[in-house]
Amino acid sequence: MARPGMERWRDRLALVTGASVGIGAAVARALVQQGLKVVGCARTVGNIEELAAECKSAGYPGTLIPYRCDLSNEEDILSMFSAICSQHGGVDICINNAGLGRPDSLLSGSTSGWKEMLNVNVLALSICTREAYQSMKERKVDDGHIININSMSGHRVVPQSVTHFYSATKYAVTALTEGLRQELREAQTHIRATCISPGFVETQFAFRLHDKEPEKAAATYEQIKCLQPEDVTEAVIYVLSSPPHVQVSLALTIHSLEEPNQLQRKEAGSPAGPGRVSQGLIPCAFHRSETSR
Ligand SMILES: NC(=O)c1ccc[n+]([C@@H]2O[C@H](COP(=O)([O-])OP(=O)(O)OC[C@H]3O[C@@H](n4cnc5c(N)ncnc54)[C@H](OP(=O)(O)O)[C@@H]3O)[C@@H](O)[C@H]2O)c1
Repeated sequence: MARPGMERWRDRLALVTGASVGIGAAVARALVQQGLKVVGCARTVGNIEELAAECKSAGYPGTLIPYRCDLSNEEDILSMFSAICSQHGGVDICINNAGLGRPDSLLSGSTSGWKEMLNVNVLALSICTREAYQSMKERKVDDGHIININSMSGHRVVPQSVTHFYSATKYAVTALTEGLRQELREAQTHIRATCISPGFVETQFAFRLHDKEPEKAAATYEQIKCLQPEDVTEAVIYVLSSPPHVQVSLALTIHSLEEPNQLQRKEAGSPAGPGRVSQGLIPCAFHRSETSR
């Protein structure tokens, strides 16, 4: 049964990037369950085909359409958008979820690792956003939604060298989401832009980050009770089901109860214990979609 507020999305098309595993797969499944037509893309398209079959045999009202796309290749992205346009009309919701971390520190990391993160986490997200907006504009879709799966790393830098460049790409996502929101207001549309910023989520992410040290990856998810991909899905459904005049824009943060709230920081030299909240660092912005330029 459709969740309250989700009925208006029935039979409309959502693109979910990085739908082969983890958060993207969970989001794609949940949207199909809510009756949407979902194009799920990634390189490992076989996983998405299996998920599509699973959704079908579960009798979900929507459909999942697998699409093979390497998001680090602009031509692949543009071909995907043109296939969506010719076969399904266009995109109404774009969920920029695909992302990765590579263990390349600032002092000794490889340029190829940095490029891989930039290509997927920043450039692909920007290309998909532009193409999704153009698709909505051509079809006069005024209620579309672009959701960026950001991270707590887009709002604070943790003292772990392997995450510093990744964190820079996620800070970019914070700026891109707010910039997008401003451009959408200038364009006088009611298309909305939101970023959701999870803490630790138990997925393949850490295993890909520490691909040469799987024990390190496993330890990441053992230290606390992590979020599950379905917890992030709930945030996506909440954002999509909010009434059209409500804009949930920057930084809906969501993290495990056991995760130290890393948006709080200790004052230098202060004793161990909870730090002060750093003022104004992270607005969780809710406002009317027409206002707050
Ligand atoms: N897990 C966490 O703790 C956590 C926390 C905060 C934010 N996030 C963010 O959440 C998002 C999803 O991460 P996850 O945890 O679900 O990670 P994951 O399990 O590693 O999944 C990553 C997804 O991105 C896709 N992807 C990566 N590179 C790609 C490329 N070149 N072309 C197409 N697809 C590509 C992967 O598909 P293929 O490999 O099949 O192509 C996969 O579907 C990311 O943006 C991540 O930064 C994760």
